[in-house]
Amino acid sequence: GIAAAAAAVAAYWAYRKLRSKKAASDGKVLRSAYAPPPYTIEHVDLDFILTEAEAVVYSTLRVKSNHAAGGPLYLDGEDLELRSISLDGVPLQEGTGYTRGEEGLTVLSPPAKPLPFELKIVVATKPQDNTQLSGLYKTSGNYCTQCEAVGFRRITYFLDRPDVMSTYKVRVEADKKLYPILLSNGNEVGRGDLPAGRHWAAFEDPFKKPCYLFALVAAKLEGIESEFTTCSGRKVRLYIWSESENKDQLDWAMQSLKDSMAWDERKYGREYDLDVFHIVAVNDFNMGAMENKGLNVFNTACVLAKQSTATDDDYERVQGVVAHEYFHNWTGNRVTCRDWFQLTLKEGLTVYRDQTFSADMTSPAVQRIENVRVMRSHQFVEDSGPMAHPIRPESYLAIDNFYTLTVYEKGAEVIRMYHTLLGEEGFRKGTDLYFDRHDGCAVTCDDFRAAMADANGRDLTQFERWYTQAGTPTVKAAGAYDGATKTYTLTLSQSTPPTPGQPTKLPLHIPVRIKLLDRKGGALLPERILELTEASQTFVFNSIASEPVLSLLRGFSAPVKLDFPLSDETLAFLAAHDDDPFNRWDASQQLGKRVLLALVAEWQVADRQSRQQLELPDAFVATFKATLAASLDASLKAYSLALPDYSVLAQDMSPIDPDALIAVLRFARRSLGQRMRKELLAMYESLTSPNEKFSVAPSEVGRRRLRNVCLDFLAAGGDEQSLQMCRKHFHAATTMTDRLAAFKALAPFPSEALDEVQSIFYERAKANNEALVINKWFAVQASTYSTDALEKVKALTKHEAFDGTNPNRVRSVINTFAALNPAAFHDLSGSGYEYIGTQVLDLDKRNPQVASRLCNNFRDWKKYNQKRQALMKAQLVRIRDCKTVSKDVFEIASRSLE
Ligand code: ARG
Ligand code: ZN
Repeated sequence: GIAAAAAAVAAYWAYRKLRSKKAASDGKVLRSAYAPPPYTIEHVDLDFILTEAEAVVYSTLRVKSNHAAGGPLYLDGEDLELRSISLDGVPLQEGTGYTRGEEGLTVLSPPAKPLPFELKIVVATKPQDNTQLSGLYKTSGNYCTQCEAVGFRRITYFLDRPDVMSTYKVRVEADKKLYPILLSNGNEVGRGDLPAGRHWAAFEDPFKKPCYLFALVAAKLEGIESEFTTCSGRKVRLYIWSESENKDQLDWAMQSLKDSMAWDERKYGREYDLDVFHIVAVNDFNMGAMENKGLNVFNTACVLAKQSTATDDDYERVQGVVAHEYFHNWTGNRVTCRDWFQLTLKEGLTVYRDQTFSADMTSPAVQRIENVRVMRSHQFVEDSGPMAHPIRPESYLAIDNFYTLTVYEKGAEVIRMYHTLLGEEGFRKGTDLYFDRHDGCAVTCDDFRAAMADANGRDLTQFERWYTQAGTPTVKAAGAYDGATKTYTLTLSQSTPPTPGQPTKLPLHIPVRIKLLDRKGGALLPERILELTEASQTFVFNSIASEPVLSLLRGFSAPVKLDFPLSDETLAFLAAHDDDPFNRWDASQQLGKRVLLALVAEWQVADRQSRQQLELPDAFVATFKATLAASLDASLKAYSLALPDYSVLAQDMSPIDPDALIAVLRFARRSLGQRMRKELLAMYESLTSPNEKFSVAPSEVGRRRLRNVCLDFLAAGGDEQSLQMCRKHFHAATTMTDRLAAFKALAPFPSEALDEVQSIFYERAKANNEALVINKWFAVQASTYSTDALEKVKALTKHEAFDGTNPNRVRSVINTFAALNPAAFHDLSGSGYEYIGTQVLDLDKRNPQVASRLCNNFRDWKKYNQKRQALMKAQLVRIRDCKTVSKDVFEIASRSLE
């Protein structure tokens, strides 16, 4: 009785404390503090009355205590106007029946019994003023929702945590002319007209779901419709909705959706489970897209595609994101996360699934290179800075800050390692068992690992360390061949550098895929997987006929760095002969990195005059030439020719010198363009096909990709001849891929050609009302270095097409400047820093999630020289100490400063 009630009250306060920024020690939510919910909500009835003034939400919750004692019931709620609340039909009074705080409401004494009781809550919100784009908001005059991670509490009072799963019935009422399309999760069960030009529709979702998967749309949209017959013969209606002017850009997403549905049946035995599946495209969206049950909501940038507006990379992204959100139906929705620390359970797994889907739809080698490029250029950086966290973090202030490359991309690499260790069949046994065991449940990363282990009779205890340790491990390799005994001895050792809060690390379970090659690229030892589990291990291979070349970490079999010094000759050999296409590409990049970093070092000590005399080593030009001439898939060739990017080079520099890096990258491109002019021109011409019929088949994508790489090198000199070539390329282009490539190649060179292309590009997009194309137009300019780059960016924010309330537009100008124009952002005057600091604080007032991403550009301040450090630090301090700062931005700024 009393003791239990007291315990419940104590538990309630502990729970409150965890959720309040100011109350707890430092306001962080801790993974270790997880406790099951005291109550559960079995069923939810929602009635939305949408008018121009407000949205009124009538909510009826069937609540059940999870233990006999009862105790206070805390419900999350944010920015809500409470109109009334009653329990089993009896109105509750503030003070005696319930209390209210800034982050929620407490029903003081619900009936202490296991029977369900009924809470009726009426709240009002103003979606038209919701600039955070979390909860119910308006975008281009339409209503939509975004609830993950914690947006549902901005719609109504609720137990806003993923381990509370309910069935939903939803009714929506709105003006019929303004909002002809009414949608929510699940199946439509009723619809009708109302007086005064209004109408309603009702929906039922039979599957229990956490509230973060709730969605509602009331909008004026047009759509395309199709049908998919599942493996068991059920017919599913498919709809993709957008504003009417985008209707001709939806077919690719529909094709991608059908391909995804078929692939998930084939590959994982997963069938779709409702009679209808909707995708809705919206202009204003904080992230990429959202997997709400049966009603995915997408950022237009991740769903629209047509030849004249979308590049080949855009097509690929649309295909990948459509698949990703669809795959969530099983990995995320049917089986969901117990708490937000488990985010990688659904995201890592779903990214792995979309990556392998894309590989099957296009080219596994190309897809792998693209995925690893993201890991190396971006995730490794995150993993080596102040925000480094394990794929399953231990604490957070704002969970939205943890939708990171680590949770998503490294999380996908961790899933891939299960596949590598267990094989295709073993992995499938593991996922089958996972779905069998946990369908309809909210579970943890440990549950996934247990399913993999149990289905295969494997001990994966040590593998857990991939979930607990942050930082990128280094695997060091040393090989020795003994001609007398014909043995090859390989010693592998591993270490992971300290990360914030984790000074020492334990050895991980690392699958290392290797092969021993002979001097012609043939096999001296067939491919195999070594399991590195100790700090250091030695592997001995017998009967190796001659001295081998080691092909190591084939396909990037683990998300690690390699410490395996090879001679330039061996790298050149691997770049030409390794039969693993990923490793072949990798060798070309290692070579490029070596050459460029040596030039950077030269540039730094040289005076103005000797900088003019820098030269690319002949051997490097020869390798480049050999690659250009090799018989190789066009995309692979394009990626092998491309120089390692700024971010990859910067990781090997301390302190990072943005000016030297940018200067050397420019020099190398220009120099290759000049020294290889004849060959590049010939290649460019050979890839020009004037009567092309548009297709995104890998061969055509590869042709455009390689041709545009050639253009980029050729144009890098900025001479009149190449400017004209770009101009011609632009005018002859029939695709956005080619048009954008020409614009980008011209961008660094103020000229008539640039003026012409830049203005045609904009005028055409404006005339056709193509917001995504205008974003590209902004981004090219914001990422182009010039001494007055910052002034240009400021001018862009005054341009008629700039809109500070649209996240895509803001990102295309402001984030692009901070992230992709390093020489300007890091200008020694500090003007770039000052500008971005101001933008962070300004944006934060409207949209903390978008502001917090922008703030990440200061995160790695300690990797720069003293002067820059002081300037960046000053901005971080200014941001952190701003009295009105959101907890999202506060978390990034304060952790960066630690
Ligand atoms: N679950 C979504 C995905 O498919 C991401 C939603 C993230 N939204 C957010 N506000 N953090 O990856
Ligand atoms: Zn996802």
